[in-house]
Amino acid sequence: MINIAIDGPAGAGKSTIAKAVAKRLGIIYLDTGAMYRSVAYFMLRRGIPVTDEERVAEALGELVMDIRYEDGAQQIYVCGENVTPYLREPHMSKAASDVSALPVVRYKMVELQREFAKTHDVVLDGRDIGTFVLPDANCKFFMTASPEERAKRRHLELVEKGSDCTFEEVLDDINKRDYNDSHRAVAPLKAAEDAVYVDTTHMSVEEVIERVTDIVREKNK
Ligand code: DC
Repeated sequence: MINIAIDGPAGAGKSTIAKAVAKRLGIIYLDTGAMYRSVAYFMLRRGIPVTDEERVAEALGELVMDIRYEDGAQQIYVCGENVTPYLREPHMSKAASDVSALPVVRYKMVELQREFAKTHDVVLDGRDIGTFVLPDANCKFFMTASPEERAKRRHLELVEKGSDCTFEEVLDDINKRDYNDSHRAVAPLKAAEDAVYVDTTHMSVEEVIERVTDIVREKNK
């Protein structure tokens, strides 16, 4: 199986790159951030605070997650409902970051991700794929960019979708999530020792796709 891990902080361009690389290689893309976002959505819909470990753990037993591909795009169904349209709303980002810090949530998601990688050629993006989920992945990348550049990209993306948030709000959210994601006790954001480090601050999307695809092809020759 080809397993490609792309880790890095929020807004580094992981999902754009992972999607494009998967398409070029004719394999599947698994957005693991969307899985944590789905858990956050499920909890918030039930009025469960995402930091309340006991209640989250209890409700998690009822959460059935099904990942499907419709017209090539990943859709996450939670207990039969397609929750994908709600996952990118700004308040979901912080909620996902909080809920993802709970070990009970991580174990459940990591189990699903490992199962998925065992049965599919897949590009996964996240925070802990190369270090924890798939330490034996054939190709690992750690993708980053300066916080300002990441905030600029995310801000543009949100404005294009009709949001009226400011650049400062997005930068603040990025900084908070960076801190949260790299300081949690279980599987924090960090580069695997054998990951290829890609700083995308001054690279175009096309350049990053080329670089990643070339390395993957070279390693899987
Ligand atoms: O990549 P994203 O912004 O959609 O991720 C949302 C949150 O989920 C992020 O703040 C951290 C968490 N996450 C994680 O802990 N591990 C992953 N493999 C992917 C995401």
